[in-house]
Amino acid sequence: MKAIHCDLLGDADVLQVIEVEKPKIRDDEVLIEVAATSVNWADLWKLADFRRKVRSATSPKPNLGLECSGRIVEVGSQVTRWKIGDEVCGIVPGGGYAELVAVCDKLVIPIPMGIPLRDAATLPLSACLIWHCFFRLNRVRQDQIILIHRAAGGVGSLAIQILKYYGCHVYITAGTREKIAFCKGLGAEVCINYRKENFYKRVFEETKGKDFGVIAAKNISIAGGNSLSLSPAAHATLLNDVEKNIWPAIAQQRIRPIVYKSFKLIEAADAHTAMQKSINLGKKNGILDVPSTQSSSHPVSHVAVNHSRAQAPYLS
Ligand SMILES: NC(=O)c1ccc[n+]([C@@H]2O[C@H](COP(=O)([O-])OP(=O)(O)OC[C@H]3O[C@@H](n4cnc5c(N)ncnc54)[C@H](OP(=O)(O)O)[C@@H]3O)[C@@H](O)[C@H]2O)c1
Repeated sequence: MKAIHCDLLGDADVLQVIEVEKPKIRDDEVLIEVAATSVNWADLWKLADFRRKVRSATSPKPNLGLECSGRIVEVGSQVTRWKIGDEVCGIVPGGGYAELVAVCDKLVIPIPMGIPLRDAATLPLSACLIWHCFFRLNRVRQDQIILIHRAAGGVGSLAIQILKYYGCHVYITAGTREKIAFCKGLGAEVCINYRKENFYKRVFEETKGKDFGVIAAKNISIAGGNSLSLSPAAHATLLNDVEKNIWPAIAQQRIRPIVYKSFKLIEAADAHTAMQKSINLGKKNGILDVPSTQSSSHPVSHVAVNHSRAQAPYLS
């Protein structure tokens, strides 16, 4: 099968497609024929780390690709939920930049109804991170004001939609006029270009000074989150929550994955460069051997968001 192989040439990263052995699945795994894999900052950091630490030609190579969508082509003997032909997306422990990837059966969930198979590759990691940070760690509730910084990217654009769906008031910051318009189109109520305006002052004005003082007055704590450091079991639980709480909203077309631009597997290096340049609105997506049909222009017109409220999951 074909997979991306990483190497170094002088100071430059070389990402090239090579022929490698097909992965063998364990009893609790499925083999996915990958339709699409998403490019994440964690992939770029893995490469940067490799560049810093590499000692010799035999140093282990970074295993890129942390999420994917595709069809199940093999099922391990202990797997009960899935069968060959099922379309799924999920979180993979590296190795998603390939035609085939072996994944634990608990780390995949069905494609949300109505979403193209390849677009679903943009969802698992971002959705898990959003669920983990907003709903698990910070117990976000209906009517709360949430400020999302640099919100026009892959995670932010999905977070705006999910938080609106759960009845929150979403404020955002972003660095260009185009990104501000994009976030507004997704339902953000207060949009602040942080390069032109002091976001702290503006949020203070918009909330009539309610938000920051209350942190001290009410002994509120601040939590930080990064779902990538969680165990596979914790990720499986998060995926379960995402399937239960976010997938129905996607099926109702109230939340949409946003693919800014598609790349072929062979163009993985271009996808990384595009990520570093930060021009994307929504998520960047690396697509395997599928010609790009997505325009690289403003994708907001493809987004159907219904701003009516859903029941927040942690309302007491
Ligand atoms: N499971 C996890 O824990 C998980 C999963 C996915 C992502 N993440 C993290 O979430 C964050 C956002 O990810 P994303 O996929 O949404 O990223 P993204 O789409 O590339 O970027 C989000 C925003 O960050 C700003 N930005 C981009 N490149 C930058 C750079 N080189 N220096 C400074 N700012 C830059 C840009 O905003 P402006 O132009 O408005 O400044 C951009 O719109 C990252 O830190 C990522 O590692 C974590």
